Amino acid sequence: MASSSATSFVLILSFACYLSLPIPITASYNISAVFAFGDSTADAGNNNHVNSFFSSDHLPYGRDLPSHVPRGRFSNGKLSTDYLVDILGIKDFLPAYLDPKLTDNDLLTGASFASGGSGLDKRTTALTPVLDLPTQLDLFEQAFKRIRKLVGEEKARVIVENALFVISAGTNDMLYNAYSFPTRVIELTMSGYQDFLLKNLESVVEKLYRVGARKIAVTGLPPIGCLPIQITVDNIFPSPHWLRRECNDDQNRDSQAYNSKLNSQILPPLQTRLRGAKIGYLNIYKPILDMATNPAKYGFNQTHQGCCGTGLLEIGPLCNVLVPVCLHSSKYLFWDAVHLTQAGYSVLADYFGKTLLTYLIN
Ligand SMILES: *[C@@H]1O[C@H](CO)[C@@H](O)[C@H](O)[C@H]1NC(C)=O
Ligand SMILES: *[C@@H]1O[C@H](CO)[C@@H](O)[C@H](O)[C@H]1NC(C)=O
Repeated sequence: MASSSATSFVLILSFACYLSLPIPITASYNISAVFAFGDSTADAGNNNHVNSFFSSDHLPYGRDLPSHVPRGRFSNGKLSTDYLVDILGIKDFLPAYLDPKLTDNDLLTGASFASGGSGLDKRTTALTPVLDLPTQLDLFEQAFKRIRKLVGEEKARVIVENALFVISAGTNDMLYNAYSFPTRVIELTMSGYQDFLLKNLESVVEKLYRVGARKIAVTGLPPIGCLPIQITVDNIFPSPHWLRRECNDDQNRDSQAYNSKLNSQILPPLQTRLRGAKIGYLNIYKPILDMATNPAKYGFNQTHQGCCGTGLLEIGPLCNVLVPVCLHSSKYLFWDAVHLTQAGYSVLADYFGKTLLTYLIN
């Protein structure tokens, strides 16, 4: 019982997709705003304002931020979206939309609507107060209204048209509905469930397009079988990978199958249909797997356990001031049992910059 509730709790919390982004050089990118959607990989603190349980506004989260103050990011420091806006020369951090201190003026350069624990399947968020994707889209429309009020219709339209939109979701759906409580997979098969998730993702892209978005980066799944929590726990039982600390290859294959459908079946027709838009597939699987399997290349010493606590299970409330924390988080790929360190997020950001950003925003 204890193990089962600990697991489900952990899975609900887990983020979904590693957000990834950014690139080098500033001046050549004619882009002035970034809007992010999805899960904890891009949540800059929205969850602080919807409930206190699924949040990370407590130490040791945020301890490596310049202020050393936790603001609700699920990492020790910056997220990929923060590195992205920095690389684009826009600002140092992409703020949370629900932060009461966020001004209308801040909105002109973008904000994050993402919410830790969110996903593409209603079931993922049904029992939690986190912001599901439809709510995040509603909030964006509200933000767009504020922008229009501030700068007028025409200028607002141009800002959104030239903004970069990032969607990072799907991991929580898999963790929760495919691995932890596989009811969806029993109903639909794994492949059928992935198709279901991808249909929902497609409709998020279409909705953003209808509101005016024209540059949209869509993140795939990470190698879910390499998340420390998944190495530790299979479903409600300890995983056979636990003691050996090696990735779960079956789950990684599921991630690859999803990514391949996204990249080859879902996005190309969308790109054709949504005229004037640029829609890019953001491959986070490849760089995360590379970091996990070639630690030395990135200066990492530990890529199968998180830095926080035992590194096997702790995330969210379980990663707190009472647990020990590793000495050098920059040597860790994972900050907690699900989320990357800022060192890992920064690599994703660079990868995004090198592979996709130029196409999207020029
Ligand atoms: C940047 O975008 C604005 C708005 O569309 C446009 O007016 C301007 O010419 C663009 N500048 C460059 C260098 O592409
Ligand atoms: C991490 O560092 C320890 C101590 O220096 C070493 O024994 C171990 O092999 C290193 N692990 C990796 C993955 O580099």
